[in-house]
Amino acid sequence: MKALVYAAKGQPRLEDRPKPTILKPTDAIVKMVKTTICGTDLHIFKGDVATCDTGRILGHEGVAVVEQVGDNVGLFKPGDKVIVSCITSCTTCANCRRGMPSHCTNGGWALGNTIDGTQAEYTRIPHADGSLHLAVESASDNAQLMLSDTVPTGYECGVLQGKIKLGSTVAIVGSGPVGLGALITSQLYSPLQIIMIDLNEKRLATARSLGATHTVVSGPNVVEQVMKITGGRGVDAALEAVGIPATFELCQKLVAVGGTIANLGVHGTKVDLHLETLWDKNITITTRLVDASSTPMLIKLVESGKILPEKFATHTFAFKDIEKAYNIFGAAEAHDCLKVVIEF
Ligand SMILES: NC(=O)c1ccc[n+]([C@@H]2O[C@H](COP(=O)([O-])OP(=O)(O)OC[C@H]3O[C@@H](n4cnc5c(N)ncnc54)[C@H](O)[C@@H]3O)[C@@H](O)[C@H]2O)c1
Ligand SMILES: [Zn+2]
Ligand SMILES: [Zn+2]
Repeated sequence: MKALVYAAKGQPRLEDRPKPTILKPTDAIVKMVKTTICGTDLHIFKGDVATCDTGRILGHEGVAVVEQVGDNVGLFKPGDKVIVSCITSCTTCANCRRGMPSHCTNGGWALGNTIDGTQAEYTRIPHADGSLHLAVESASDNAQLMLSDTVPTGYECGVLQGKIKLGSTVAIVGSGPVGLGALITSQLYSPLQIIMIDLNEKRLATARSLGATHTVVSGPNVVEQVMKITGGRGVDAALEAVGIPATFELCQKLVAVGGTIANLGVHGTKVDLHLETLWDKNITITTRLVDASSTPMLIKLVESGKILPEKFATHTFAFKDIEKAYNIFGAAEAHDCLKVVIEF
């Protein structure tokens, strides 16, 4: 089969690989229908993700059809259409049992990181019962593709960790798919203001069309502008959805007294924490690897039309052109690209 491999820093390469086989009775083999590229895959190519070795087949998102199941898989059978979760969950280890499958001791974020992932014609899914979800017929594949990682990350790491509630003021730094995932799910809690911040005006226009109350182009006056919008208070929830020091430092300047900085971004370098200005502000800082435990609920929201994440899909490529898709996604601004859909 063909597979997209992390060949070296900056080098995505389509290679021939053997088709995966069942290794354990809890495994399933799925035939990919659609996959996509995540901002995190770009971090891997920058060398930011130490756990991912060269030679790895990338990808941790997808809609697929079950091809084969091991003897101990109870919830799925060949022919089922499924959403592949970016988190592999054994459901029985101590971390799975305490609701933190992101740190499952037998899985966690494994696909496209520590084991071969979904940017391939076939993928082996360990602990299939805890790591796949039945897709629904009444929602599009593109909408459900966003439920592997993008929307659960925005919701769990951003909206839930940021404690967004009725009347909150919110700033989301980074209007990429993950930031937009936080934008569309935060509205279900009726915050007063949602200020989206990005360098890219097109992405901010998308944010406005998806419900942002304010947008600010990131630049030297960004703090001043947010203070003006919030009457000088700052925001109750500052969500960092980029993954670079500058944006985490920006969140420290935007957070109001008593507020929360919720970090979503994957960081590859150290960031300064300004306790000299924050020590007396009663703030909370959260970090989280997505658990994707909200995916079953998000499937219902998509099915009922309450959220429309298919709007994140801007480009479609055939799998044979995935190297090109990486180039386009890597220069997203120049191509007005948000999320690429890769079809098999
Ligand atoms: N915590 C988790 O479990 C988890 C899961 C998935 C993704 N992520 C991470 O979330 C982050 C966002 O993912 P994405 O797919 O949306 O990425 P993305 O690269 O598509 O989006 C990032 C956005 O940040 C903007 N940006 C860059 N520099 C900026 C600056 N100085 N000020 C304001 N905006 C700036 C870019 O223009 C872009 O729109 C990434 O770091 C990704 O690795 C984390
Ligand atoms: Zn991801
Ligand atoms: Zn587990």
